[in-house]
Amino acid sequence: MMKKTLLFMLFVCCAALLAEAQVTINPGLSWKDDSGNVIQAHGGGIVKAGKTFYWYGEDRSDNKSSQKINCYSSTDLKNWTFRKVVLSSSTPGMAEANLERPKVLYNDKTKKYVLWVHKENTHDYGEAKALVAVSDKPDGDFTFIKEFRPFGNMSRDCNLFKDEDGTAYFVSTARENTDMICYRLSPDYLDAVEQRKILDGGRREAPVIFKRNGLYYLCTSAATGWAPNYNSVQTAKNIFGPYGPQQPLYSNTTGNSYDSQTAFVLDVNGTLVMVADRWKGWDLKDSRYMWLPMNFDSKGGLMPIEWADSWTIDPITGNAKAPARLKPASNNIALNKTAEASVANTVNGNEARCAFDGNPATKWCADNGNWPHWLMVDLGQIYKISSSEITWERNNGTAYQYIIESSLDKNSWTTVIDKSRNTNGDQTQVDNSIAGGRYFRVRAIGHIDVKGGYSWASLFEWKLISDGINVALHKTATADSQQAGTYAVKANDGEFESAWYTGGGKLGNSWAVDLGKPYNLTGCRIMWQDPGFYYQYKIDVSSDKNTWTTMIDKTDTNVIWTPVHKFNASNARYLRITVNGLDDGCWLGIREVEVFDTKPLPLHTGTIRISGRK
Ligand code: DGJ
Repeated sequence: MMKKTLLFMLFVCCAALLAEAQVTINPGLSWKDDSGNVIQAHGGGIVKAGKTFYWYGEDRSDNKSSQKINCYSSTDLKNWTFRKVVLSSSTPGMAEANLERPKVLYNDKTKKYVLWVHKENTHDYGEAKALVAVSDKPDGDFTFIKEFRPFGNMSRDCNLFKDEDGTAYFVSTARENTDMICYRLSPDYLDAVEQRKILDGGRREAPVIFKRNGLYYLCTSAATGWAPNYNSVQTAKNIFGPYGPQQPLYSNTTGNSYDSQTAFVLDVNGTLVMVADRWKGWDLKDSRYMWLPMNFDSKGGLMPIEWADSWTIDPITGNAKAPARLKPASNNIALNKTAEASVANTVNGNEARCAFDGNPATKWCADNGNWPHWLMVDLGQIYKISSSEITWERNNGTAYQYIIESSLDKNSWTTVIDKSRNTNGDQTQVDNSIAGGRYFRVRAIGHIDVKGGYSWASLFEWKLISDGINVALHKTATADSQQAGTYAVKANDGEFESAWYTGGGKLGNSWAVDLGKPYNLTGCRIMWQDPGFYYQYKIDVSSDKNTWTTMIDKTDTNVIWTPVHKFNASNARYLRITVNGLDDGCWLGIREVEVFDTKPLPLHTGTIRISGRK
């Protein structure tokens, strides 16, 4: 018995040791070091030595030019210790300087840490030089080597990249931030020995280069001072290019990259993290850090970076978890619901659930060419369905013949749509005025093929639409302040990329919607304009637009981009949101307000798991 207990305790200890040490990252929130001081490492870069990460960045604590480069260390990427100022105007050989976007590489041959940084004087950006320094230790005093214009080119925003073969590159903006040039460095990394213009024109800055599966990725921002703008990514098979067209680096964004600017890509055992800055040009010392995980699709393509109020990562394994992409409350009730089919081609992953995953690229397919076959979905509760949209596999004019049935108990079925003699070859078949039910089944009866092909029972997506899930969708909306193009209606158009902005961006403004008739409301979800800020507001409801009852009064400073509020408001026709408090640097706007009268609230949230290198 004693032996068993000891063995069990030993097992528990080992499991605890092996258990992942996930740390939580909160983009945009003020980040303090382990002495309680706000971390001053803006426009930064990180190297790993042994088990320790070293974060170098600009010190903006005096809200002026960056005359000091700080170095912090951490073993878990969350808790940082200030090490020292590794380079500054008082470093021997240096004079007053504005040192921006420091980056450090370790040279395996010389066993030295080499730092390159954008160097200006302290009053304008006229010098446009690169400055090089070196140190034996990652947190040592870096020795000034030189400051210069590589190959005589102006050089401002910059970065370093080390390829698998140890060759290092420096990339920086040239010709008044108009071009981007990539320089191959000398074997000791202390000089630029070859140059290639990788962006000719385009006025891109804040360059970051990383490599994955043999492909080079170049992330850049536009050049708009401290103000946020459209950050993009381009790829190339060779570091010197040619780089392909710009793709959006971030998803769901209204062109301001979640109010951030690229600085560095951190590789945590294969998991890539975008390290970006949320600059506060009016209070630089309080500029924030926007660290978000980068995810790749099944074909290895970089997916636009999703926002996360918080996400977790294991600093050793690189395994990370983050909220999946948010989608507007879909009136497609069947989305992500449990599905079954008579047969499914599982070997190719064409399972029944693929017809309800909201992804037009995946499909359910029978595993043989026989007909009929059926596909069924359980909506989880009874819904009144207003229309069905089936996107069949073939888009070549093949006419699919089918019957849609509904059931309350999965045993007795009622035919609600009979298209068994359908001859229409539209790939997406829309059928209206369906019926109520919990279970819905499509029986694929037959097919009229064109051009001699032979179709199997197979479809990409089956949507079951129920009006009134989001009862605010496209209803009359008003606001007491708005701007051209960002009218109140943009906040209930079912789109996350459009938004209502107030004219003055200030407090006390309100947005309201007339639902058209009284509802027994159960809650709502708001997607604010910019994530990573706190909003304070009241949600009121009314049956007559005169007497208002407060359902929600949020006065805390918690940072939640898309708060979901549950409440019970009977006989409510009008809903109003009044904003009484805003985080520093946040302009008041709302991307979407969704209002519900069902329980549970029809919101689908998922988690993405990013696994590090095995
Ligand atoms: C944008 C650059 O990316 C920053 O490093 C800084 O130089 C600001 N411009 C200054 O306006």
